[in-house]
Amino acid sequence: MTHPVSRLRELVSAAVVESFGPEHAAVDPAVHRSAFADYQADVALRLARAVRKPPLEVAKALAAAIDASELCEDVQVSPPGFVNFRLRRDVLETSINALVRDERAGVPRVARAQTIVIDYSSPNVAKEMHVGNLRTTVIGDCLARLLGFQGHRVVRQNHIGDWGTPFGMLVEHLHDLGSEQSAAPALADLKAFYQAARSKFDADPSFADRARQRVVLLQAGDPATLAIWRTLIQASLVYLRSVYQKLGVLLTDDDVRGESFYNPLLPRVADELEQRGVAQIDQGALCVMMPEFKNREGETLPLIVRKKDGGFGYAATDLAALRFRVDELHADRLLYVVGSPQQQHFSMVFAAARKAGWLPESVHAEHVGFGSVLGADRKLLRTRSGDSPSLVELLDEATERADAAVREKNAEMPAEMRARVAQQVGIGAIKYADLSSERIKDYVFDWSRMLSFEGNTGPYLQYAHARICSILRRAAEGGSELAADLLAFNVPELRAVRLEQPAERALAIELIELSSAVEAAASTLSPHRLCTYLYELASRFTAFFESCPVLKADTPEQRDSRLVVCGASRRALAVGLTLLGMGAPDRM
Ligand code: ARG
Repeated sequence: MTHPVSRLRELVSAAVVESFGPEHAAVDPAVHRSAFADYQADVALRLARAVRKPPLEVAKALAAAIDASELCEDVQVSPPGFVNFRLRRDVLETSINALVRDERAGVPRVARAQTIVIDYSSPNVAKEMHVGNLRTTVIGDCLARLLGFQGHRVVRQNHIGDWGTPFGMLVEHLHDLGSEQSAAPALADLKAFYQAARSKFDADPSFADRARQRVVLLQAGDPATLAIWRTLIQASLVYLRSVYQKLGVLLTDDDVRGESFYNPLLPRVADELEQRGVAQIDQGALCVMMPEFKNREGETLPLIVRKKDGGFGYAATDLAALRFRVDELHADRLLYVVGSPQQQHFSMVFAAARKAGWLPESVHAEHVGFGSVLGADRKLLRTRSGDSPSLVELLDEATERADAAVREKNAEMPAEMRARVAQQVGIGAIKYADLSSERIKDYVFDWSRMLSFEGNTGPYLQYAHARICSILRRAAEGGSELAADLLAFNVPELRAVRLEQPAERALAIELIELSSAVEAAASTLSPHRLCTYLYELASRFTAFFESCPVLKADTPEQRDSRLVVCGASRRALAVGLTLLGMGAPDRM
């Protein structure tokens, strides 16, 4: 079934052509939600200038030309030039019926699927993950889900930092520990391992020398050195897997393609850039000079491909990775979910790649930046000792706090079930706090706010979902087969929905907006737009539930209709929470 709003757009566009000619066919009908009607079209305001008529007159002409009787009970014009639509009740009822039976909750697939490579998480390994790795992982994962759900082919790339100078020190330290058996326990605690190597490096000049030698051996591909390096990377991958599992993100070992993968490709990257005249030697280093990129002093900022000492840096690896993603992964679109401080780095990499002919016009590359996680003092979130907090400790604390919060709300819940729910609520709270703030802004990490059951929070949405499930459960226990089916997402037949009360109608309108919210979040790469929508949806559900008794409805027909509305709300919330990467608990 065509979505009512898509159909409305088609009808408005047809009226534009009919009234003002085919040359205006491409004008955006600008149909959107409105406080004064169900939907409003702003197209008359846009057309007015082109057709040299007052907007109100344009709007009146359009309203007269639109035949929206299949969808609307009412089309009206209001100044300065809005066309307002009120949907027919039966159209909404049919939509709710379709939505409750559709596992996509009415969200269409895109007409043209793209291959979208998303670089996210990408931590530097052989180190503990810290809060600085949180946002890229959570936002990147949500974007992967959103774009994948829309039907795009999403290729996740975890560009881990598994190569380069720090590995000299780490390999040398592991080498000093001797046999694999004696190294195993040290590697189980990566944080301690990294710190031990670091202090040795700082305190012992001979170790520091050996560490530097190791870098050379590693770069040269010395087999013994590579073997130690591999042990280290394997241990890191085990650790990464455990963090991703805790966090509930999609990333797997198959998505890992770290910096080391590109190492053999770097000399060619440098040579080709030089041959094509894109890069030149400047004070011994091979650089791409692009006058559009300047430092604070106004001098051209070089993109360093190969350092003076012959080593390759971060930019060279990113150029090689970009080529790989375009040529081998066949990307139509490249996304890099990396903190805002790296914005210029990516602009330069993209510009250099365009110059080199590695990034064709048809491929779109975008740095998806984001702000920092701040503490209550509005400075970067730190532990008491001044470190960046460990991600695992943060996640564990969230689960513990959620456990206490769930216990307070529902003392009867068996401990085992509560542990499961607490995991979903705790991790969900952290993710939601991150995703619901505008991506590009900093946000303040605040336990009590994110774990609150009130307001625009993860627990509030999950609670709304659990509450609907509990209504359905109670109805099912009372013998309603319909409720049992709805609970099991199993609604094969059309059910009579009757949207009688204003609160039912308002909820229904919100429900059919899920597809617009998904589209808005995906097209602007802004998960917070989906969050805002879900919060609004949950609030409308609450209003519905307060004014429209379900279990105590007046008639069996009314009760069944409201059960279907509950089922549809639960479906939309479940789809939304899943897209955010959050659990949708059925009890809380
Ligand atoms: N490992 C890098 C860091 O921790 C992030 C890598 C981002 N991805 C990339 N293709 N450069 O800063």
